[in-house]
Amino acid sequence: MHLYGYFPNNNHNCFQASIYYFCRSYQRESMNPQRKLMPLDEFTIQETRKFKAATGELSAILRDIGLACKIINKQVLKAGLVDILGQHGATNVQGEEQQKLDVFADETLINVLRSSADCAGIASEENETFIAFDDEFSMNSKYVVLFDPLDGSSNIDVNASIGTIFSVYKRVSELGKPCTEADFLQPGNKLMAAGYVIYGSSTMLVYATKLGVNGFTLEPSIGEFCLSHPNMKCSEKGKIYSINQGNTCKFDDNMKAFLDHCMEDNKEEGRPYSHRYIGSMVADMHRTLLKGGIFIYPADKKNANGKLRLQYECNPMSFIIEAAGGVSNTGKDRILDIQPTELHQRVPIFIGSKNLVEKANSYTNA
Ligand code: AHG
Repeated sequence: MHLYGYFPNNNHNCFQASIYYFCRSYQRESMNPQRKLMPLDEFTIQETRKFKAATGELSAILRDIGLACKIINKQVLKAGLVDILGQHGATNVQGEEQQKLDVFADETLINVLRSSADCAGIASEENETFIAFDDEFSMNSKYVVLFDPLDGSSNIDVNASIGTIFSVYKRVSELGKPCTEADFLQPGNKLMAAGYVIYGSSTMLVYATKLGVNGFTLEPSIGEFCLSHPNMKCSEKGKIYSINQGNTCKFDDNMKAFLDHCMEDNKEEGRPYSHRYIGSMVADMHRTLLKGGIFIYPADKKNANGKLRLQYECNPMSFIIEAAGGVSNTGKDRILDIQPTELHQRVPIFIGSKNLVEKANSYTNA
């Protein structure tokens, strides 16, 4: 197509032509009153209407989490500019060094959920014990929220994607009183919703209920998460394996044999598979959800239960992946069926596309 004819003075170069067309189409899109943007809030309200008994409280919690994550996102984007990077000086209950943004994210989520009227209490990966909100509204709320406020925080300094992981349970304790530890020690198969926010080249909120998984991209010009990835599915057949392969010397022989299988040359089966590992579970799982594959954090000689936490990382991700048609287990048992015994317990995890998780299990159970 000859572009010059479209410009008033016929002497623009191709670069200018591209800019012109980009601006025109952006203007058309953004000013078109017919164009339907579906913000997170509107979407969750529509979903709520599918259930006669729904009160809208779960939608309100998702909106609150979305709001907290927009505040966190703003700070993550600024992190390179202000003196907010680096160690905070304290260590969390796992003995890991906290960074300033971890603390900021943790406090933001706690404050937003505390001042909402729909959350009875929270448990955070960064805090030793849960927090029961003791005002009248909160004590009458039926949900509790668990979160890892800023997962993959060691990636902050190198500008790689990090994320917030959250999950929502209906409480089992008596309404009208403060929530109890039992509310937070429920198995993943009792989750009402779970999701994550990825702070990456764009900011996305992905959440799952039993109805399915949907992804919302933050549209910065209006400050809203808008539906961009409806009805997300994890491909049944993946070709990417994701694991900290530097730990191979600590893995058992079955685990090593599975990695050999992934690296083997086999044209019919499309091997060797590609290896990708960011070291930020949200980023590695986001790719696994979009492109298929397997993410593994196994047990090893040093850590009999692996590294990742059941309640803050493994259960929410397992709930999302299963709702998207994928599989998640410890190498043996379904993650969502594990009865937690403590708030910060760890479990090994094999999660992602059915073909790869089942193949890995055929090695781990040999
Ligand atoms: P952290 O939030 O302390 O950076 O931990 C990140 C978690 C998880 O997101 C990631 O998959 C895993 O730890 C990476 O652990 P390794 O560095 O041991 O591979």
